[in-house]
Amino acid sequence: MIKSLKDYKNKKKKLIEYNKFYYDQNSPKIDDAKYDLLKKQLLIYEEKNKLSGHEKKVSDLVGFEPSKKFSRVKHKESMLSLDNAFEEGDIINFYKKVNNYLNLKEHTRLELFAEPKIDGISASLYYKNGEFYQGLSRGDGVHGEDITENLYTISEIPKKLKLTNIQQLTIRGEVYIKKSDFKKISDKFANPRNAASGSLRQKDSNNTAKIPLCFFAYGTIFGNHDIKNTQSEFLDFLKDNGFSVNPFSKIIKNENDLYKNYKDIENKRSKLDYDIDGIVYKINKFDLQKRLGNLTNSPRWAIAYKFSSEKGLSTIKNIEIQIGRTGALTPVAKIQPVNIGGVVVSNATLHNEDEIIRKDIRIGDTVLVQRAGDVIPNVISVERKKRPINSKAFIFPKKCPSCGSKVKKEYNENSKKFDAVARCSSEGFECEKIAIEKIKHFISKEALNIDGFGKKVVEKFWELNFIRYPQDIFNLDYEKIEKLEGFGQQSVENLKSAIKRSQALSLEKFIFSIGIRHIGQENAKILAKFFKSKKNLKKIIKVHSFYKELSELDGIGESQINSLKNFFENKTNKMVFEKLILILEISDFKIAEKGKFINQTFMFTGGLSKMSRSEAKQIVENEGGKVLGTLSKKLNFIVSGDAKPTIKKINQAKEFGIRVLTEKEWYKLINF
Ligand code: IVH
Repeated sequence: MIKSLKDYKNKKKKLIEYNKFYYDQNSPKIDDAKYDLLKKQLLIYEEKNKLSGHEKKVSDLVGFEPSKKFSRVKHKESMLSLDNAFEEGDIINFYKKVNNYLNLKEHTRLELFAEPKIDGISASLYYKNGEFYQGLSRGDGVHGEDITENLYTISEIPKKLKLTNIQQLTIRGEVYIKKSDFKKISDKFANPRNAASGSLRQKDSNNTAKIPLCFFAYGTIFGNHDIKNTQSEFLDFLKDNGFSVNPFSKIIKNENDLYKNYKDIENKRSKLDYDIDGIVYKINKFDLQKRLGNLTNSPRWAIAYKFSSEKGLSTIKNIEIQIGRTGALTPVAKIQPVNIGGVVVSNATLHNEDEIIRKDIRIGDTVLVQRAGDVIPNVISVERKKRPINSKAFIFPKKCPSCGSKVKKEYNENSKKFDAVARCSSEGFECEKIAIEKIKHFISKEALNIDGFGKKVVEKFWELNFIRYPQDIFNLDYEKIEKLEGFGQQSVENLKSAIKRSQALSLEKFIFSIGIRHIGQENAKILAKFFKSKKNLKKIIKVHSFYKELSELDGIGESQINSLKNFFENKTNKMVFEKLILILEISDFKIAEKGKFINQTFMFTGGLSKMSRSEAKQIVENEGGKVLGTLSKKLNFIVSGDAKPTIKKINQAKEFGIRVLTEKEWYKLINF
């Protein structure tokens, strides 16, 4: 434990010294466990104590992560996260989306399986012929770290399965530490989740073994669905084979059942000896899970209903404006640091100007702040009775605090209202704050994902004038970087190779990484599918007729088209885009290489009775085919759904000699 500021300063000095040895001479002065412990104690001290602004914190030091310890292994199927629900409306929305996708009646309630959401660290275990063979961390979802040896030390992970010796089996679950065990080591870690994570990431598995970790198994991959028919049967199978599965899991028939289950478990929460932060609801039947499939980051077949947020009172010291990547100006309350459910909160969002007015928030006010999961804390309300006489109203800026451009609110033609969000009208690299945020987005986990290149490094490199545009990352002066505090020969080598590695990426990642407003991961994928290669994509700058074709794509609406146009009309954006296209190795969009519809095109007209258009499209694409929105002579199949097909289209297709499939023939073709 760190006792005083003096103690903190001394220990921090030591850490920096150790760090130098670690990186510069590649010969650590203390062993890893002691180093990690010291660093953790410093971080805890920083989190618990408010240090003065000029005190350089350990959490601010750049290039501080130890070098990579584990080898990267590709997951058999990606490890995704879950979409969150925070209120009953979100649950109804989940049912709605599922029903739409499967083309079921609006009020259908498919059977769900409820499981507590364990707040630990996920792991993927691979069993070969019934024996534990390899264990991976989640990593970036696509690649994990090989932490087999560390997972091996966990007694709740069976080394040999009791009943099955199936050739290939992937089990997913959560590694966690019991609250009672955490108490014994709480001086070393901020919370049980950090403790589990820290322990799993030990270089030496003997250190992992010293901390009692547990494991709840909660699932598998699509590739192993043939073992059982439902999630509930699969968990029984896991139990029979020696895994621990959570005892509070339950079949759910409808929303009333679900809400009751949610409340029951929430009431039990504090009495459990492990942390849970919500309930996961999964479509119970495996065949339906498979049909629903996954979005880029989360499955369509499950949702996490998070427990209600925790709240705390604090006072607003000041209100500052934060500028986002898309130019949005967000007012943020700087509050007196307050501990809300184990986390020290010192910033809370006020969303926008209208919200400040609606809630009547002034500087100096005492406010109720809420924190829910990983969501940014926000101010809910003001304690009007506690308002001091010298409270100060906040005047929302008319000019961007970063670049001085006018602040604008967009007019929305549909709602006939002005947008609540105010934006910097420079809309691009001309504004320093926007440029920094754009670069942060470019290097983020979902985009280029450069190991060791975090947000703090971006800020540092910006400050030192090393980077002004995303492409500058590929032209860094490593000799200069090596001289910076927190960097050494080894960390610079690591950074160099991480940057090099990030240069090869898929077309959809590239489109996402350039940070066009309204183009998230899903839309980037749609665009990549359309353009297929960087060569085609490059034409977007000159060929304006693309926009018409793009607007016909499912998922691309007016706001996306306008945003694309705006983006590519901007000279700097164009310059960055062209530079990046030259520097990066962008691979073509991968359509399934195997499948019965390779090089085949489909068009659908009329509604299908057993599936939605989205599902039909997904099936065609999974088999390597493509769905077109307009009729052309190149088309191979037109599927005529039973509900209101356009006869004109079918007749025209017949004239072109295109094969017309009835709904029944379509199902036969796909073995549905
Ligand atoms: S199912 C496709 N079930 O929550 C994703 N996840 O936010 C399937 N988690 O990374 C996840 N308990 O680490 C599932 N019973 C449970 C879980 C659970 C905890 C974690 C998991 C995942 C995270 C998603």
